[in-house]
Order: sequence, then C-alpha cells, then structure tokens
Amino acid sequence: MTFPQTRLRRLRKSGVLRDLVRETELSASDLVYPMFVEHGPDHRTPIASMPGIDRLSISNAVQEAGEAQALGINAVLLFGIPADKDEQGSGAWDDEGIVQLATRAIKEAYPEIAVICDLCLCEYTSHGHCGIVNSDGYVDNDATLELLARTATSQARAGADVIAPSDMMDGRIGVIRSELDREGFSDLALIAYSAKFASAFYGPFRDAAGSTPAFGDRRAYQMDPANAAEAVREALLDVEEGADVVMVKPALPYLDVIRRVKDATGVPVAAYNVSGEYAMIKAAAAAGYLDERTAVLEALTGIRRAGADIVISYHSKDVAKWLQ
Ligand code: PBG
Repeated sequence: MTFPQTRLRRLRKSGVLRDLVRETELSASDLVYPMFVEHGPDHRTPIASMPGIDRLSISNAVQEAGEAQALGINAVLLFGIPADKDEQGSGAWDDEGIVQLATRAIKEAYPEIAVICDLCLCEYTSHGHCGIVNSDGYVDNDATLELLARTATSQARAGADVIAPSDMMDGRIGVIRSELDREGFSDLALIAYSAKFASAFYGPFRDAAGSTPAFGDRRAYQMDPANAAEAVREALLDVEEGADVVMVKPALPYLDVIRRVKDATGVPVAAYNVSGEYAMIKAAAAAGYLDERTAVLEALTGIRRAGADIVISYHSKDVAKWLQ
C-alpha cells in the first residue's frame, strides 16, 4: 500500500524532477534594484541600518546599474537625496535635480536598463512630509498634485522609463497620467504605489533619505495595516486612473494583500521588500541567527508565490548572483 503523499516526495528526491513540479520561479528578471543617489564627486556613504547598501554619487550609481544589468536585473529604482530641502520640495522638479542627473547618466551609459524614478516630495521637503503642509499641520492633497505632475514631467524629460508615485495623494495617478500625455510622454509607464501602508518597516529608508517627518506621522495618507479591502479599492482606482502596474508595500507582512490585489486587478503587481525587511534579515544573519542566503531566497520566493510579478528589493543584486 502506497500513500498518495509519497508521490511528491519521490519527485522531490531528484533536482530535475523537483524543478519540473515547482510552481513558483524567482529569477533576476523579476527583480528591481533600488538605489539612493546624492550629489558630489565619486563616493559612497554607507547607511548604518542597511549594511551593504550605500548612498551613491552619480558615478557610483552608474557603475551599480551596470553591475545590476550584467547580473540580469532589468530595472533600477532611483531615490534622490537633494543638496537642499525646502517647504515645497522644489528639488524634486528641478531639471538639474539629483534624480534627473542620475537618470540621464545611467541611460547614457546603459540604455538597456530601465530606470524607474520614485516620485515623492518627502526626500525634498524640509519637514519630511510627502506634500505641501497646511497651517493645520496636514498635507494639502490637491495642492500637492500639481507639484507631483511637475516632478513627473521633469523626470520624463530626463529619460525615465517608468515613474513610480509613492506619495499616496488621492487622485495623483490620473493627474500625473494626463500631464504626461499632454507633454508627449504617453508611452511612459506608471507603477502606482497603490497600497502603501503606514509602516514601521520604513525606518532604515528614512535614515537613508533623511525623510523622517519633523512632526506628526504619515497615517493620514498612508494606509492602516489592518485594512486589506481598502487596499484592493485603492489598487482598482489606480488602474482606472491609468496605472500600468500596482504596488503593495511593504511586502512580507502583506502577502495576503498582494494576492488579493493580484486577483482583483489582473494587472501586473509589484511588491516592495522594504528597508526594514532587508535590515531584519541582515541583522539576524550578522548575529548568526539565520542563514542569509536561504532566508532571502525563501522570503522573495514567498513574495512571488503570493502573486507579485515584480519584486523590488535591496537584496536584488545578491539574489541575482546566487541564482547564477
Ligand atoms: C516615500 C517612500 C518610502 C519608501 C519609499 N518611498 C517610505 C516612507 O513613507 O517614508 C520606503 C522604502 C523602504 O523602506 O525601503 N516616498
């Protein structure tokens, strides 16, 4: 008498057969590598809470993009650290701003790799919020939209292949889409950070980008971690407004949301394995509590299995190396 369960066990004994029945693939071409770019000549500045990730000068960012491409990664995601910040975040839409300069340099050196520009004002505002702040201390949604659209067209002129608005203002996808179309960038794609949760896991990123809010928090415009149905509604709205890809962020605490958004929208879904998720594995591995490589591959495969077509991760280059 043979129990039916033993059949898969037989298949798993051999590597070839195991591959034959594997349901989920993780490959370098699914990955996006995020980079922090700052002004100044050839240098890199380590980020204490993200071992292995540095703030890069433009020349170093170009070099990293080339390495990513050689490893089979198709896209990088750029975050800018401006020289100066102000109330409105005007560095964001400066044609000579840090992201614009880096985008031009990367596209010139490596035209084949896709450059995705993160679009948000929080790295550029002196108060660290993602938009214009009213006298009541809250972000003015509608006034912010115009600045986001201005930033998008500036990034487009610099040569961005994709723009990824991460600000979470209502109606921004529609406004940005129509502004891009009006300016002649109707082929440029939008990845909407549709379900961006107000998360503790952004901590290391805010150290890296110097974008911790000077007062209050982002709970008025980022989502409540308790809400999944709302995430689905947000994603559907963004698709209606013109998003080509919708994103869920962070990834690991929200695998159910990734699945629901994927099933409900049917469009490509991106998941952002954020800075805190990266830091957690790096710290545990450094302490000898878990094996980095197996843990990372398991985590990223889980994100893919949940329904993510695209995985944005600071581990991307390591993963691409391990998969070679
Ligand atoms: C906001 C933005 C954030 C991240 C990317 N874009 C977070 C925030 O709300 O501060 C976080 C990414 C990460 O943690 O890796 N523009």
